[in-house]
Formats: sequence, C-alpha cells, structure tokens
Amino acid sequence: MMRDLSQPCALAVLVSGNGSNLQVIIDRIESGELNARIACVISNNPDAYALTRAQAHAIPTIVHEISGFTGRREYDAALVKILQGFGVELVVLAGFMRILSDVMVSAFPDAIMNIHPALLPAFPGLHAQQQALDYGVKFSGCTVHFVDCGTDTGPIILQAVVPVNQDDTEAALSARIQAEEHRTFPQAIRLFVEGKIHVDGRLVRIQS
Ligand code: GRF
Repeated sequence: MMRDLSQPCALAVLVSGNGSNLQVIIDRIESGELNARIACVISNNPDAYALTRAQAHAIPTIVHEISGFTGRREYDAALVKILQGFGVELVVLAGFMRILSDVMVSAFPDAIMNIHPALLPAFPGLHAQQQALDYGVKFSGCTVHFVDCGTDTGPIILQAVVPVNQDDTEAALSARIQAEEHRTFPQAIRLFVEGKIHVDGRLVRIQS
C-alpha cells in the first residue's frame, strides 16, 4: 500500500550501541531535510548509548531484551506488536546486532532497512571492516539494503565506496566508512519517505 506522502513517515530505529547513525537521522529530521518522525527507538541492549541520544530528543525508547523469550521468532513477534502499536511504516536497523526472522520480515515487507559496513555481497556478517582488510581489497564502503531472512542478503538500495589504504587499521577504515554511512543512510531513508523506491525482486529502482 502506498503511504500518504503528505504526512511525516513514522520510523522506528533499532539500535544496539553508539547510535551515530541514529543521531544523523534525528539531525536530518530536525533540520527539515527528512519528512519523517521517529516514533520509537528500540534497543536489545539496555546500555546502548543510542538510548541516551534518543532521550535527549524526547523520543520514546524501549529496551527489548532477548531474555524471557524462547527464541528469535517469539522475540520478533513481540517486536512486531510494539512496532505496530506505534504505527511504524519504516523500520531502520542502525547498528542493531540481531538477525531478524521471517516473523519480522513478513510483517514489514520491503520496509526494513539496514546499513552494512562493506560493499555487499562482499563481507556480510560481523567484523566486515576487518574481513575487508584481511582479504586485501583496495576499496570497501557501505551498503544500505532492505532486510530479508538472510544475513545482509536483501535488495541493495544504495552503496558508497571508500579506498582501503595500505596501512589501514580496522578503526581507521571503520571511521572512513562511517562518514559515508552518515551520508548514505539518511539519503536512502529520504528516498523511501518520498515514495521513490520500487522493489522488483532483487532489483531496487529509484525514481529520479
Ligand atoms: C555501523 O558501522 C553499521 O554499519 C553497523 O553498525 C554500526 C553502527 O554504528 N551495522 P552506530 O551505532 O550507528 O554508531
């Protein structure tokens, strides 16, 4: 169903850690560049600094821990209820360190976005920057993609490339990639919010 483009898009941002991507999204909304509102920030980690960032902007926060659930699908079913309760239209995974099951993916078809710190399909999963260094690639970057039931396998929306330098450390490469994440992620969210993304199987077409 087409969303009402005149209304701010209701986002949920799911986090586990620092939340620098969350911060950029908040900033873009507050500057008026993104016609959206963050309905809630949800973390599986009660100590995530991202929660403090959200609270500083009076955004509702929820800690949704895995303990108490018998498995991923049960955890996700509870998550879906929370998200539906907030009327969420787009789920943004910004450093959320959990794999989603079919329960979440089928509840939000083509409406869950993730940012990954590599040029997918290279180096999916954890420690993508270190994987890139170990492999010896000369370029890496970041990928914004829709989420399916695999690990970092969903349709690709946007990518940005950064060079890998000879003497790079994981920290140096990660910082260079993060600068591109902070540019690319809000751009992809903006395309969604403006109704400019069309998904055709694996292919994502962007209306100019
Ligand atoms: C980013 O590097 C992102 O690519 C990965 O998790 C990290 C989150 O960083 N999925 P932050 O919490 O937004 O600062």
